[in-house]
Amino acid sequence: MSYKNFPMVPRVIFGRGSFNQLGELLSPNRLNRNAPFIFLVDDVFKTEIDVTSRIPISYEDKVVYVSTEEEPKTSQVDELVENIILTSKERPSGIIGIGGGSMLDLAKAVAIMLTNEGSAEDYQGWDLVKNKALYHVGIPTISGTGAEVSRTTVLTGSTKKLGINSDYTPFDQVVLDPELTNGVPKDQWFYTGMDCFIHSVESLNGTYLNAFSKTYGDMAYSICKEIYLDGKLSKKDAQDKLMMASWHGGMSIAYSQVGVAHAMSYGLSYLLGTKHGIGNCIVFNHLEEFYPKDVKLFKDMIAKHKITLPTNVCSDLSEKDLDTMISIALSLEPLWENAIGKNWKKRITPKKLKELYLKM
Ligand SMILES: [Fe+2]
Repeated sequence: MSYKNFPMVPRVIFGRGSFNQLGELLSPNRLNRNAPFIFLVDDVFKTEIDVTSRIPISYEDKVVYVSTEEEPKTSQVDELVENIILTSKERPSGIIGIGGGSMLDLAKAVAIMLTNEGSAEDYQGWDLVKNKALYHVGIPTISGTGAEVSRTTVLTGSTKKLGINSDYTPFDQVVLDPELTNGVPKDQWFYTGMDCFIHSVESLNGTYLNAFSKTYGDMAYSICKEIYLDGKLSKKDAQDKLMMASWHGGMSIAYSQVGVAHAMSYGLSYLLGTKHGIGNCIVFNHLEEFYPKDVKLFKDMIAKHKITLPTNVCSDLSEKDLDTMISIALSLEPLWENAIGKNWKKRITPKKLKELYLKM
């Protein structure tokens, strides 16, 4: 048995208003005046002066607003990298991603591609990155994805939806400021929080589970229940705790793996462009067979927060599209092996996935 030697985020700052310390965190990492910091910011913040006015810009630093309307693509990473190279006097000092999971994943991928040749697509998979990434900082503005702590960056390429999983992917610095989640709309708060809940469920019920991932998974699971079912916390406490649940959920899957909902939701997202959080919810809602107790809890949470999930999302798909979706889902072998066990192929067949997709 060979154990994974797993990299962690080496520096993290936590607290309401800690975003104000970004300038002092960055300055020791500035290479020189001509080597800018590039701030990749979710364009929903374009009009949020309270946030944008606090981005510490000096010398040649640049703020680039990025739409995260769609899930991040390898082509989008390549474009951002090309743009940064063309408009910077020197290789940048670092990349700072400010936004949700998509934005954080883009920032990680851009930092990798600024020091590695070719297209982001060449590195989708496990441990294909050769050179250390540029210094990169993650600042989540919504809680749940775990992207702030993970060693992957999930991208949609021309042939697959798969992460760049590598020891160089994790951020060098993370800023956890729960105040930045103030403007999150309720449905997003729910879907992204459920991403965290599902991380904990898939980790805790997986065959890869061990004490490392269990302790983190237990914590994420109990915080999610406290926030989405008990509902007794103040808004501030709930924001603080959800940010930590996201961290724990991410840590839990880092040393185990996700499962059925993630594998199937990658299929939805590849074909229909469904965003990760809502995609997971659409799938998880039909996974009683795999996670009976937790799908029941999930349905209670849906009812409590009056969330209406889309239905019949696959009903207009052609046979060919359905087959593509199924093959994307089946290609995520480690996820199935974690969920079902080594003999997963006996139970999880294309026919079985087709039945499930058509229920959603
Ligand atoms: Fe996820």
